Amino acid sequence: APPAPSVQEATIHSNYGEKYADVNWDELGFSLTPTDYMFEMKCFQGEEFSQGNLIPYGKIELSPAAAILNYGQGLFEGLKAYRREDGHIVLFRPEQNAMRMKMGAERMCMPSPSVEQFIDAVKQTVLANKRWVPPPGKGSLYIRPLLMGSGSILGVAPAPEYTFLVYTSPVGNYYKGIGTPINLIVEDKLHRATPGGAGGVKTIANYSPVLQALTQAKSKGFSDVLFLDAKTGQNIEEVSACNIFIVKDKIISTPATLGTILPGVTRKSIIDIALDFGFQVEERVIPVEELMDADEVFCTGTAVVVNPVGSVTYQGIRVEYKTGVEAVSQKLCAMLTGIQTGRIEDNMGWTVEI
Ligand code: COI
Repeated sequence: APPAPSVQEATIHSNYGEKYADVNWDELGFSLTPTDYMFEMKCFQGEEFSQGNLIPYGKIELSPAAAILNYGQGLFEGLKAYRREDGHIVLFRPEQNAMRMKMGAERMCMPSPSVEQFIDAVKQTVLANKRWVPPPGKGSLYIRPLLMGSGSILGVAPAPEYTFLVYTSPVGNYYKGIGTPINLIVEDKLHRATPGGAGGVKTIANYSPVLQALTQAKSKGFSDVLFLDAKTGQNIEEVSACNIFIVKDKIISTPATLGTILPGVTRKSIIDIALDFGFQVEERVIPVEELMDADEVFCTGTAVVVNPVGSVTYQGIRVEYKTGVEAVSQKLCAMLTGIQTGRIEDNMGWTVEI
């Protein structure tokens, strides 16, 4: 491995080296393309994070007894950097991810980087990997901050040491393509989150429990799974990696974030854009019957962006929804991606130039 660069060296390497890495930018999907550097910062339990460093991207060393491996004491985040037509690179609402990580860290009994430390680490990592930020219109650089109990612990207790890592990967679309409708199946036996659990924070442990339902759904030809609340099994909650919205008679509704649903940054941004457009938006409990009776359904997430849902299947009944240029989700998506990529002026103050 090359020697670890200083922050400045990494930035210089990236600024003055080749403009673009050797990637077929037209073929990007949502899969891992390793980049040059990652950021690492450590602290002991009871202390605060202080100084982190850029290091070459690569494997990390962990004790077999690390809390993350044994007890799942870990959180992750997901945000994106975009290269604009004018050459500037921007982040989208990074402070939202930083604050969500802080919230999650409290729930998981971990120390968390401050909002400033989080944003600074993200900026350094993106700048060091600048040549991996796709050309305008070809995708984005997905940024994955991780916070984990890296210290060894045998009894169930908070780890004695913590590691904050940030790595990146250029990505394209999560599903087939923005605008291509997906087909969901409602899962009525397996659940993603329970009241009092950790469904409302981005713990790593929220994602493997969806795999069984997701694998079954994909084997039947569905794109993804929509989970119901664990208490009554009557209300819609979340798709495996994104939030859900329904539209009925021009009113936009999404499940309220009452502890079992991830408070998505894209979810929040779409609500604000919809309110700005003059739509009525409701955050509330949504019975599955309302989903089946909706005019339109769509998903939101950092990875997913805004994706129309073409159909939902529940207990063997399939319902189809409005999609295409007339769909509300198209208008909301165009505004969101316009702000992110700089095609539309950012009057919301959401983008951070680096
Ligand atoms: C994101 O949208 O950033 C997520 O965290 C979803 C991820 C599990 C693919």
